[in-house]
Amino acid sequence: MQVNHFLQFNDFSREEFEYLFERTRWIKHEFKQYRRYWPLVDRTMAMIFDKHSTRTRLSFEAGMHQLGGAAIYLSMRDTQLGRGEPVEDAARVISRMVDIVMIRTHEHDIVRRFAAHSRVPVINGLTDEYHPCQIMGDIFTFIEHSGSISGKTVAWIGDSNNVCNTWLQAAEIFDFNVHVSTPPGYEVEPERAGLYGTDHYEEFADPHDAVRDADLVTTDVWTSMGFEAETEERKKDFADFRVDSEMMACARKSTVFMHCLPAHRGEEVEAAVIDGPQSIVWEEAENRLHTQKALMEYLLLGRVDDPAGPSPVTGN
Ligand code: CP
Ligand code: NVA
Repeated sequence: MQVNHFLQFNDFSREEFEYLFERTRWIKHEFKQYRRYWPLVDRTMAMIFDKHSTRTRLSFEAGMHQLGGAAIYLSMRDTQLGRGEPVEDAARVISRMVDIVMIRTHEHDIVRRFAAHSRVPVINGLTDEYHPCQIMGDIFTFIEHSGSISGKTVAWIGDSNNVCNTWLQAAEIFDFNVHVSTPPGYEVEPERAGLYGTDHYEEFADPHDAVRDADLVTTDVWTSMGFEAETEERKKDFADFRVDSEMMACARKSTVFMHCLPAHRGEEVEAAVIDGPQSIVWEEAENRLHTQKALMEYLLLGRVDDPAGPSPVTGN
C-alpha cells in the first residue's frame, strides 16, 4: 500500500507545492470569512512530541479542528515510546487507530522508521535535521508578500540547522539562491542537509556580504532544541552573526525579514529588526496554520477537484 508522507521538503515536487499553495489561499480565504469547511469529519490526527512547541502544536491541533476532525496530543515521554517501545511497533499500533500522524523528535531516522511502518500519512513536525512544515509556510508567506520566489535570493545567517537545511532543499525545488553565513565550524553539511547538489547556495564568511542583494533575510536560534549543552559556547561563536539594523541596511529597503520563532531578541536578532517594518514574522507564523490545513487535506483526501473540496459540511 502506497502511503504519502511529508518527512522532508523534497518529498514533494514543485508542482505539488503549487497545488498546496492554491489550496492554502482558498482555505485561508474561507477561514477569514468565518465559513465552515469540514472535509475531515471523523478523521483523527495523533501528534507525538518529544520536544517543546507552541506554533506547530497549535497550528496542527487548531487546523484539524477547523477542518472538522480531531487531534490528540501525545508527549513522547508519557507514552510507551518513552519507556523503550520500538518505534516500529508504535507506528503499527498508532496507525491502526488514527488517520494521520505528526511527529516532532530528535534524529530524523526516528520519523523515517515510524513512516516505514505506518499505514497512514506521517508528517515531520521538526527533527534535528529538517523542518519541512516551517519552510512550506515560509515560502507561502514570501510569495504572498513579495511574489514568486524563483530566481530570488534568501540570506540565511547563523546556524546551519534543521531550518537552514530545509531552506536549502527548497531552493533546489523552487530554483532560488541561498546565501549562507555561519561561523567557522557550523557550515552546511550537504549530505546531512539532504541536498542533490551545491548549485543553489553560496557560503559567505561575512554575514554583511550574504545579505547584500538578498530579497529575504532570515535566521534562527543559535542553540536548537536538543543542543542546550552547547549554549554558552555558541553564544561566543555566534556573537558576530546577529541580524541587526546595520546588517539589514546592507540589503534593500524592500528586503523582508523572517524568523521561524521562537526568537531571542539581543541574540540572533536585534529587537529593532524583528519588531521593525521589514519583519513579516507574524504573517509567517499565522501561515503555518493555513498551509498545514492544505497539507492535511492533501495527504488525507488527495487532490480535490471541486474548489470547495469534497462534500464539505459547510453548515452555512
Ligand atoms: N517555528 C516553530 O516550529 O515553532 P514551535 O517550536 O513553537 O512549534
Ligand atoms: N532550530 C530550532 C527551530 C525551532 C522551531 C530548533 O530546532 O530548536
